[in-house]
Amino acid sequence: MIVLGIDTSCDDTSVGIVQDTTVLANVVSSQDAIHAEWGGVVPNLARRAHQENFPLVYQQALAEAGIQENQIDVIAVTYGHGLAIALEIGIIEAKALATRLQKPVVAINHSEGHILANCATDLTGAGGVALADITLPALCVLVAGGQTQFVRMQAFGEYDMLGQTVDDAIGEGFDKAARLLGLPYPGGAKLSELAVTGNPAAYTLPRPMRGSGDFDVSYAGLKTAFLHLVNKTKLESPDGILSPSQLADLAASYQEAAIDTLLIKIKKILDTGEYKQILLGGGVAANPVLQQRLLTVGNERNIPVHIPFSRKLCTDNGAMIAIAGYFHAQKQDYLEKPEELERDPRLSLTKTITRSLE
Ligand code: KG4
Repeated sequence: MIVLGIDTSCDDTSVGIVQDTTVLANVVSSQDAIHAEWGGVVPNLARRAHQENFPLVYQQALAEAGIQENQIDVIAVTYGHGLAIALEIGIIEAKALATRLQKPVVAINHSEGHILANCATDLTGAGGVALADITLPALCVLVAGGQTQFVRMQAFGEYDMLGQTVDDAIGEGFDKAARLLGLPYPGGAKLSELAVTGNPAAYTLPRPMRGSGDFDVSYAGLKTAFLHLVNKTKLESPDGILSPSQLADLAASYQEAAIDTLLIKIKKILDTGEYKQILLGGGVAANPVLQQRLLTVGNERNIPVHIPFSRKLCTDNGAMIAIAGYFHAQKQDYLEKPEELERDPRLSLTKTITRSLE
């Protein structure tokens, strides 16, 4: 089955094409350059860029996959969560394609796409875990620019929230910390590159909410502590300028605190003894230190850890939506009236499936 996946939930225009769970194409048109000037995503600029970019991204995806559009069997589109006016563009395009090609539509929850990106395989069949091989319950760790969530996957389509950020998301924290170090938006990946040569123990930063007695996390306090640390270090430096080694040490210390904060709660969740596997998803899942440290935790406890096989499958992308679409198509979760599909900017993972079935 060939599934086309569309994601315009935030600032990337993306179209992916899969054959079952094999990724044939995954084209992402980044808007980073547009939003960098503003230090964050500007919704109406994102919408306009989605409108302009979609036709080209769609044609590129068909070319990369080596298929004609009439070979598409199913159209999958993100309908939430995300920026309302950005989501709308993907939905408008999905409806137009469905009408033109006379193909069924499945509506996908963006967060479920991040989880199911772990099932993606490359053209050789390598890379992903089969849905049937995910032993349940599994712990899904969703770490992105707009979310930090620990989710219990009870079955495909059945998710419970175990804990989440009470303020900023981990990716947002990385981006703000990167900005304080003078790195352009979105700075998460750049901060992690800078951290490679730094000493993670060079500076002391807090691990907020470590003893909160629940599975929630917080990143706002860490951001404030980092702001004070950067200012203090600048004041103590000659001419107020940070040296390359200070910048690297600050980046490494921030990254260590951000990842520790996450892992403290992951370990507490695993201490319950319920979870058979871990699935990591979202843009911050591309962080190599997070990946390594989570794999170590899994090894110590004999719990398999799954990570999407490429960086592109971690950050927002259409292939993950196509894969989620493939699994929903297997369950015949087709929209009866696709023309009535509306965006749901605050969509939560716990109400994903029932909505598209009824
Ligand atoms: O999932 P995503 O593409 O977009 C949404 O938030 O929905 O995630 C983007 C986030 C940004 O905050 C970006 O800075 C962060 O993921 N990110 C990283 C890394 N790569 C991307 N954060 C830390 N380390 C990375 N290597």
